[in-house]
Amino acid sequence: MSDSAATSPSRHLLDVANLTIHHGQLLAVDDISFRLEAGEVLAIIGANGAGKSTLLRTIAGLHTQTSGTITHDGDEISKLRTFRRVRRGISLVPEGRRLFPSLTLEENLQVGAQKAAEGPFNIAAVYDLFAWMRERRRQKVGQLSGGEQQAVAIARALVANPTILMIDEVSLGLAPIVIERIYEFLPSIVAQGISVLLVEQDVSQALAVATRVHCLLEGKTSLTGTPDQLSADAIESAYFGTIHSAATPEASA
Ligand SMILES: Nc1ncnc2c1ncn2[C@@H]1O[C@H](COP(=O)(O)OP(=O)(O)O)[C@@H](O)[C@H]1O
Ligand SMILES: [Mg+2]
Repeated sequence: MSDSAATSPSRHLLDVANLTIHHGQLLAVDDISFRLEAGEVLAIIGANGAGKSTLLRTIAGLHTQTSGTITHDGDEISKLRTFRRVRRGISLVPEGRRLFPSLTLEENLQVGAQKAAEGPFNIAAVYDLFAWMRERRRQKVGQLSGGEQQAVAIARALVANPTILMIDEVSLGLAPIVIERIYEFLPSIVAQGISVLLVEQDVSQALAVATRVHCLLEGKTSLTGTPDQLSADAIESAYFGTIHSAATPEASA
């Protein structure tokens, strides 16, 4: 996989260029470009239907783009099968978890470890990260709470030893305290050299953990920047597509 191109100056961890993606006739992602470098947490935000999941699923190889390219570590991967992308270290925590509820916690992790890349994570290392999982490893996943299941979905992606971990809406439907607990793992995995592509509907949560933000509006890029560059107003209008006329507070009827 690695070759003499390893020294190329234009090498980025992930380079998404002019990606356009359809579902049948429907244009879901329209000419999106971004780069992800080592150690970054890039948050993709945007309203329901903006194209976030379609984008992540396409990078994972679960859906095929209409045009544009995905380059990983200097190699174009746009046409690779999903398991080959996993072997390269690109792993997705899908929206809605997609766990096996009748299998045990550990059996779910074993599924994730099957096509693993080489790296520091195995099931024991993941239990060190999420301490409660070790004690409950024989419990059926369907009996765990929503927040616990979401953590298992993350753990299952981690045992594949990603260098790029893509996370699609882990906080959906969870209480704030549970969300906070789930996000506690993030700094330690970033410290281990994993870059994160995060889709998060809770914008304040996204801003709290991201090094960079990319906002989508109806499949198009509406705003990019670092959290400290972006004002709440700019984010709101990029998110909802609303235009604000400044300094005219509306009287509420
Ligand atoms: N499997 C699918 N078949 C047809 N249309 C889809 C499918 N998945 C998503 N879409 C449509 O593509 C657009 C983007 O959806 P999605 O990527 O799920 O957005 P988000 O994750 O930002 O909510 C929406 O208009 C949605 O209805
Ligand atoms: Mg989605």
